[in-house]
Amino acid sequence: MNEACEWTMIPYKRHRKGKHKNGKKPALPCYADCDSVKAYDCTYVYKLVTNLLATKFCQTVIEKMSEAIKFQRQTNQHFRFEEVICYGLGRPTTNTVSAVQLALLKILCSFILKFPKGSQADWTTIKDEIEKDIIASKDNSTSKTKCLLFDPAFSKVDKTLIEDLGFVVMETNELAKRPSQKSLFYMIHCDKWLYNNLLWKNWSSHGIKNCVIVGNSFQTMYEGVPTRIFKEQFKYLYLIVEHSCLREFTLPVWQENDAVFNDTAIIVFNPKSLAKLDFNGTWDSICPVYEDEFL
Ligand SMILES: C[S@@+](CC[C@H](N)C(=O)[O-])C[C@H]1O[C@@H](n2cnc3c(N)ncnc32)[C@H](O)[C@@H]1O
Repeated sequence: MNEACEWTMIPYKRHRKGKHKNGKKPALPCYADCDSVKAYDCTYVYKLVTNLLATKFCQTVIEKMSEAIKFQRQTNQHFRFEEVICYGLGRPTTNTVSAVQLALLKILCSFILKFPKGSQADWTTIKDEIEKDIIASKDNSTSKTKCLLFDPAFSKVDKTLIEDLGFVVMETNELAKRPSQKSLFYMIHCDKWLYNNLLWKNWSSHGIKNCVIVGNSFQTMYEGVPTRIFKEQFKYLYLIVEHSCLREFTLPVWQENDAVFNDTAIIVFNPKSLAKLDFNGTWDSICPVYEDEFL
């Protein structure tokens, strides 16, 4: 590792108001901004994976993911994820928040590969399996969850780090208009228009029920914007919440640094409520356009 990029403590930046528990800075190792030199190391992300796996937070995330998978399988007993798509990660080589989110992505990919039907096994057993899979995935010979990432902010160094972790960097900016193939969309703190585009692209009962999203609570978005504006600008998000078509498995705030995971939920769609939505009557063939202030 280049000396310029030894692990260093960076000042804790807070996105949200409020004090850290005990008033302490989180003890996370971070990269200094080292984009100008080709210096990064997957061991940094693997260390974050190890740190995360040791937390109650991670155990809860996996329990919630198990519940979400079971929910999906109630109406489609053969449901299993075929790909994981990550939009809007940010820059993991320069941003601790993105790096920790990348570490959780790695854990989730291992979990769904090892436990495609979810699991009620005890946490120690699940954790061991995830750890084994992550160790095995360092050797390219093992099968992996197909996981693709896109963020227009990725630098060359970010892309290399992501690929070294066994993921694929997408070349195309899909603007989140991707038809779901039983996809898990990992979209932590993405802008509302990206979620709205995703719903627009999958606007049918079949399409929507094949999407599972780890992202910001739609319910909170709905409550945070005046209804008229939300309805005009984010029609598909509005319709999903207004018709109670979703079920959100709320994740805890990550106490080490509440900028990383807050207001995060695993979002699945309720087939019974979806059946009541008039998909044909509400779909516009033209992709949504947004006012500048919402982009
Ligand atoms: C609010 S930031 C979230 C970053 C990080 N996940 C976090 O929680 O701090 C939104 C991210 O979405 C990215 N973004 C913008 N347009 C995008 C697109 N078309 N596809 C994927 N990501 C996009 C931005 O570059 C930015 O990194």
